[in-house]
Amino acid sequence: ELDFFFPKQRTLAVIKPDALEEHRETILEEISGRGFTVAQLEETVLSREMAEEFYKEHREKPFFIQLVDFMCRGPCMMLVLTKENAVEEWRAMMGPSDPEKAKEKSPQSLRARFAADILHNAVHGSSNEQHAEEKIRFIFGDISTDAAPTADRGAIS
Ligand code: TYD
Repeated sequence: ELDFFFPKQRTLAVIKPDALEEHRETILEEISGRGFTVAQLEETVLSREMAEEFYKEHREKPFFIQLVDFMCRGPCMMLVLTKENAVEEWRAMMGPSDPEKAKEKSPQSLRARFAADILHNAVHGSSNEQHAEEKIRFIFGDISTDAAPTADRGAIS
C-alpha cells in the first residue's frame, strides 16, 4: 500500500439538483476517472433545515434564501471522496463558483460545462479539511463506515 507515502484525504462532494438531473452519469464517471475513491454515496432530498445548516456560513448573504431553495428543489448526490490531496483536487475539478469565470480559467471544469449561473452551479466541494470533516459528519453521521440505511437518520426529508 502506498498510503504511507501518499496519505489519502477525504472531502465532501455534492452534485446539486440541476446537475444530478442532467449529468449524473458523466460526473460520476469523471470522478472515478480522476482517481477518486467513492467511500460513501447517498442520494438525498435535503429539508430546508438541513440546507440552512449545511450552508450556515452564508446565513447573512443576500443569496442565502435562493441558495437554500435551490438546494432543496430536488435530490442531491452526497459523496465522500478519498484521494491524496482530495480537497484541492475536487475543488480544481469543480472550477470557480461563477461559471463565466470557470469558462475563462478552467474550461474543462464541471462548472464551466454544467453550471447555468453562480447560483445554479452544479457541484459543491469542501474548501478545507476541517470543513470536509464537519460536513461529512453532518451528512453521514459519526460512524463513517455505517452501512445502515440512512432514511431513519433524518437525512431524507
Ligand atoms: P461559496 O462558498 O462562496 O462558493 P463555492 O461553492 O465555490 O465554495 O458559495 C456557496 C454557494 O453560494 C455557491 O456555490 C453558490 C452560491 N452563491 C451565489 O448564489 N451567489 C454568490 O454571489 C456567491 C458568492 C455564492
